[in-house]
Amino acid sequence: MNVAVIGTGYVGLVTGTVLSEIGHTVVCLDTDENKINTLIAGVSPIFEPGLEELLQRNMELGRLHFTTKTEQAFKDSKVIFIAVGTPQGEDGAANLTYLKQAAKDIAFHVVQDVVVVVKSTVPVGANDMVEQIIRQYAKPGLDIQVVSNPEFLREGHAVQDTLHGDRIVIGADNEKAGDLVESVFNPIRIPILRTDRRSAEMIKYASNAFLAVKISYINQISNLCEALGADIRAVSDGMGMDRRIGREFLNAGLGYGGSCFPKDTEALVNLGRKSDISMSIVESAIQANKEQRQLFVDKVLRHFEGDVNGKKIAVLGLAFKPNTDDMREAPSIDIISSLVAKGARIVVYDPVVKHTPLFDQFNLTYASNIDECVTKADATLLVTEWEEFIQADWSSLSKLMKSEVIFDGRNMLKTHEVETICY
Ligand code: UDX
Repeated sequence: MNVAVIGTGYVGLVTGTVLSEIGHTVVCLDTDENKINTLIAGVSPIFEPGLEELLQRNMELGRLHFTTKTEQAFKDSKVIFIAVGTPQGEDGAANLTYLKQAAKDIAFHVVQDVVVVVKSTVPVGANDMVEQIIRQYAKPGLDIQVVSNPEFLREGHAVQDTLHGDRIVIGADNEKAGDLVESVFNPIRIPILRTDRRSAEMIKYASNAFLAVKISYINQISNLCEALGADIRAVSDGMGMDRRIGREFLNAGLGYGGSCFPKDTEALVNLGRKSDISMSIVESAIQANKEQRQLFVDKVLRHFEGDVNGKKIAVLGLAFKPNTDDMREAPSIDIISSLVAKGARIVVYDPVVKHTPLFDQFNLTYASNIDECVTKADATLLVTEWEEFIQADWSSLSKLMKSEVIFDGRNMLKTHEVETICY
């Protein structure tokens, strides 16, 4: 089938690439010329395991194309996916500017019947809005249907999740349109849930917010464990053995970051506010997540009796989680900013993030490996649980440090293996 994808961010690029991999002819459209040129050269603009190989292979097979030209992208498409960003607006609500623009682009340029599939994470009712915009501006007589198909892929596992995820949700108020979207995913063996558009939109927010609540909950339990001398890893394991709870997303640490949980929880609270429905559980999860980073900084400051001025602090990990170069809402940002403000000398090392403009205002040193980062450090902070850090030989690393003090922000180092002060 001929498919177009609007937006080549995480969701759009992975969706387009995987759809070409399962045999569709896909054109990906983006307004960013630099990005499109990078993609045409066969280079993935994001670090995502396995993506670049798939991208190059399907481009060579002539099934995957990239363009900035709207008409060219829509020319023969039977299905158009919208995968543009819906960033957090000032009041916490999702900003729908790009979504509205995509709807207008479709309305102005499509000359054939088409099913529009909204993959972007959007507030309940946004699919109706897309339909209205298209109806208002499209050429009369065309049959254009709008279907909701939220995306659940995780960064770092994006290709895997798209091919082997837990579910595909198709929210269609028009059955035939829903059937067509279902047929697009046909070669993928993932259970499909068919529902109406509003429920599909809600499933995405409700799922992300639930996971955010789960993380904030275990983080608060972890703080209590620390105060009372219990071991959070054992507690998580014990809770996780209850199938009603499940072990996943019970890893206590610095809290959630990334492009989805922070903005989707805020957007859900905003939806509640507009409907006069309390979302106090989600609000508390957001608050707890903010506090979690500060508690970590406080712990570091307490160790130095409040004075980190001139101290060398080694920060291991910048990305918001392992296997990604994404820095959006990363805990490292808040932690580093707070410590720099107190006069600490920060040396960072991340296996993938080699520089970020976010820290250009600070005088940071980027080390080129773990050894260099921790050498002569007054304290070492494990901020992202990259495998490289977990597997490192911590007893030799600690010999390089000035003080053998490690703050394990991800509860990943087994204290008995590290003969240091390990928080
Ligand atoms: C998430 C959802 O999982 C995905 O379904 C949705 O489509 C997009 O948002 P992602 O943001 O890529 O995906 O990362 P995920 O692996 O879910 O982790 C989110 C955040 O939670 C990270 O900051 C991670 O460090 C944190 N986390 C996760 C924990 O702190 N503890 C855990 O046990 C699990």
